[in-house]
Amino acid sequence: MRSPVAGISGTAPACHYLTYVAVAGVPPHGLQLSGRELGRYNAKEVYVESGTISKMAVVETEEVGPNVTIAEFAVVRKGAKLGKDVVIHPFVVIESGVTIGDGVEIFPGAYIGKEPKGAGALARKLVFDRHVAIGANCCIGPNAVIYCDVEIGESTLIGDGALIREQTRVGSRSVIGVYAGVGYACRIGSQTKIMGYTGVAGKSTVGDNVFISGGVLMTNDNQLGRKGWREDENFGATIEDGAMIGAGAILLPGVVIGKGAIVGSGAMINTNVKPDALMLAMPARAVPREWHKE
Ligand SMILES: CC(C)(COP(=O)(O)OP(=O)(O)OC[C@H]1O[C@@H](n2cnc3c(N)ncnc32)[C@H](O)[C@@H]1OP(=O)(O)O)[C@@H](O)C(=O)NCCC(=O)NCCS
Repeated sequence: MRSPVAGISGTAPACHYLTYVAVAGVPPHGLQLSGRELGRYNAKEVYVESGTISKMAVVETEEVGPNVTIAEFAVVRKGAKLGKDVVIHPFVVIESGVTIGDGVEIFPGAYIGKEPKGAGALARKLVFDRHVAIGANCCIGPNAVIYCDVEIGESTLIGDGALIREQTRVGSRSVIGVYAGVGYACRIGSQTKIMGYTGVAGKSTVGDNVFISGGVLMTNDNQLGRKGWREDENFGATIEDGAMIGAGAILLPGVVIGKGAIVGSGAMINTNVKPDALMLAMPARAVPREWHKE
């Protein structure tokens, strides 16, 4: 069942919508509304077929499918495309070049199509196209941020506050958990679950049917302390199909976790793991203390 949109009486049956539209003097059927057109109607909300576009939403695009709900204070920029039965909650921002598939629901404060910014502080050169494709029936949690140049398959769940960076692709029926971050140029397969607070470093590859527990750290950079940025020396981990990573594990840059392998909670992996292997523990070892006596 779809969630009601806060602040909008969107739970009334369709016949009530038509009554409302007639009273408000708005043509009842097949409306494709832009923000400007919306302003012409003296109605608090405008009902499109059985969907609703709040008068307080900014809808610049004309490519809005049937039965779409857009709540107050949402912003949908020119050139964005919304399929049918899409629900956009308040304060969502959808930039140009974003395509939202049928039946997608986007919760308050999510930002889709964010342009990456270096602010002069980032050594890495930013590379991206201005498009985003969100597959049918995905659900995008509140305050999630999806950058430009991201494609997500059907029925994937993007958790509350999750982040997906540019040039990344995510398959179908996958989960990106709450406050999980997926870096740039990653490949995430289908039916894969990445649980809350996990960090997937840029240029990582995760196969199909993979399970990554919460709080896992995947890294991509062994150039600590060196000057400049060497893109060709940076690689995230590769996690092959069916592998499972326990909570809080750390994967160092470029390691390959073989098909069906298990990495136990808290393990630190700095070499490749064979298919179906079980890796446990993070042995601490004694090292000479001289370096920090000075
Ligand atoms: C891989 C895992 C399942 C192994 O658990 P298990 O089968 O119950 O392991 P056992 O209890 O049989 O332990 C076997 C030995 O390994 C040790 N061990 C088990 N897990 C360990 C770990 N993560 N790190 C270090 N040692 C571990 C045990 O102390 C025991 O040692 P001993 O034989 O010297 O007494 C578990 O470590 C793990 O990572 N679980 C994942 C938790 C998780 O992330 N869940 C999903 C999100 S909630």
